[in-house]
Amino acid sequence: MTDTSTPRLRSRAWFDNPDNIDMTALYLERYLNFGLSLEELRSGKPIIGIAQTGSDLSPCNRHHLVLAERIREGIREAGGIALEFPVHPIQETGKRPTAGLDRNLAYLGLVEALYGYPIDGVVLTTGCDKTTPACLMAAATVNIPAIALSVGPMLNGWHKGEWTGSGTIVWKGRQMLAAGEIDDAGFIKLVASSAPSTGYCNTMGTATTMNSLAEALGMMLPGSAAIPAPYRDRQEVAYLTGKRIVEMVAEDLKPSDILTLDAFHNAIVVNSAIGGSTNAPIHLAAIARHIGVELPLKDWETKGHKVPLLVNLQPAGEYLGEDYYRAGGVPAVVAQLMGQGLIREQAMTVNGQTMGENCRDATIEDERVIRRFDQPLREEAGFLVLSGNLFDAAIMKTSVIDEAFRTRYLSNPDDPNAFEGPVVVFDGPEDYHHRIDDPALGITPETLLFMRGAGPIGYPGAAEVVNMRPPAYLITEGIGALPCVGDGRQSGTSGSPSILNASPEAAANGGLALLRTGDRVRVDLNKGTVDVLIAAEELADRRSALEAAGGYAYPASQTPWQEIQRSIVGQMDSGAILEGSEKYQRIAQT
Ligand code: FES
Ligand code: MG
Repeated sequence: MTDTSTPRLRSRAWFDNPDNIDMTALYLERYLNFGLSLEELRSGKPIIGIAQTGSDLSPCNRHHLVLAERIREGIREAGGIALEFPVHPIQETGKRPTAGLDRNLAYLGLVEALYGYPIDGVVLTTGCDKTTPACLMAAATVNIPAIALSVGPMLNGWHKGEWTGSGTIVWKGRQMLAAGEIDDAGFIKLVASSAPSTGYCNTMGTATTMNSLAEALGMMLPGSAAIPAPYRDRQEVAYLTGKRIVEMVAEDLKPSDILTLDAFHNAIVVNSAIGGSTNAPIHLAAIARHIGVELPLKDWETKGHKVPLLVNLQPAGEYLGEDYYRAGGVPAVVAQLMGQGLIREQAMTVNGQTMGENCRDATIEDERVIRRFDQPLREEAGFLVLSGNLFDAAIMKTSVIDEAFRTRYLSNPDDPNAFEGPVVVFDGPEDYHHRIDDPALGITPETLLFMRGAGPIGYPGAAEVVNMRPPAYLITEGIGALPCVGDGRQSGTSGSPSILNASPEAAANGGLALLRTGDRVRVDLNKGTVDVLIAAEELADRRSALEAAGGYAYPASQTPWQEIQRSIVGQMDSGAILEGSEKYQRIAQT
């Protein structure tokens, strides 16, 4: 018996297909195997996937194993049938050589699961950095009704009466270790204190960023991104998310109705206001390409640079995840931006209402943590997009430029917002770690540190290594940071104002491959340029020599997937997706 009150469900092609009764019998027989009744499977109820990203290998998302019970109850309460299945595990800090390698692999696996099985709608269990974009990219490609549920951040970390935030404390701790202020055991204890509970990084790292942006894109229930993992509200919103996806299937509300250009522009503006991660432009570009929206990298500067920093979370500010939630989370930030006309209010969201309807009345509950628009932590806090003779595009997160950096590098009265100096070039993170403290490199406060061989091809997936600490002897002299430039990424928890995600990377024979230690490089933030100060003929000679040598050398692949991904991955300025995969769009409708 088929329910005719809702649109025909794609799962009916498996379980209720009179034209192919043989296959219907086969499908039914095996899905009955885990306890569903024939009556349930043939009742016309929508089948809802729970794309499970949590596992013992993915501790940041592991709490989703608990939340899935509440998602199921919501799905059943609303008249759906839940089928939970695993997503390829991604754990940001534990995966060798990089978790960047796994985003596109999880994407591929999830596309196959959503397309190839009888699923009418899906709950995407998001959390640790790349789990969120991987899930949204797949939902965009398949285009069945989809809703994201964040696992939420850990509780705040504490050590000796002070907040310790995920990742950010590592960058601070490694300086203290280099300066001899703590020993190895003290370093481990300090870092462990930042992780007091289940959940993802409690700073404004890539996890909090990408979940905030999933909500800003309209793909998550309003107000839900920031709820800490252990809070009871997190259980409640898991239940509500399960209920809502069943309604979305009945309404046929799909990612293509939500992930519009308006939605992406909202996410860019929100990213500036929250002090979001430098990984966000890569992931949003990838999601946009899979849904077929044009989102040039330059939009991050034109739409986002002038937006002020409103959220006072580490690394750009002081507070942590619990405070962000209590202060009002994403809706409070959106409401401030809406008051200035910076939000496309008509953008549709998963609850069937627009962004404007959802956030219009949201208030700030703690102005120490979320500032009013007229009292920002910093003006013009978005990204700059830079280019020059070393690369076509790179970004710089201006919200983390601190006073010391501004004074030393950007305050020359004759040449404001520009600096130049000799460079020291490292080929990958191992080279950096071996040599950084070697006095023979002659690193001084004027030196610019360059990291190359760390992009999507060179260090497969792109390593988070551009934020390089200065040599220990400079740290003890009070120089905590040098300008860093590179073709890798850096952690969203890093407070370094690096110039990073440079595209094309050295391993794609971009201009960085031509750079040599001792060259001088000029950075001009007024003009948006980074240039090596050598003659064009010399650069051309170096390029000929590079080509004669067979191109920039990088380490061999260690696994089959590294080799496959390296052969087809694009550069970070266009999302580092598997080139060619974007032609598969809205495939559930084909
Ligand atoms: Fe998983 Fe930060 S390492 S969220
Ligand atoms: Mg990261």
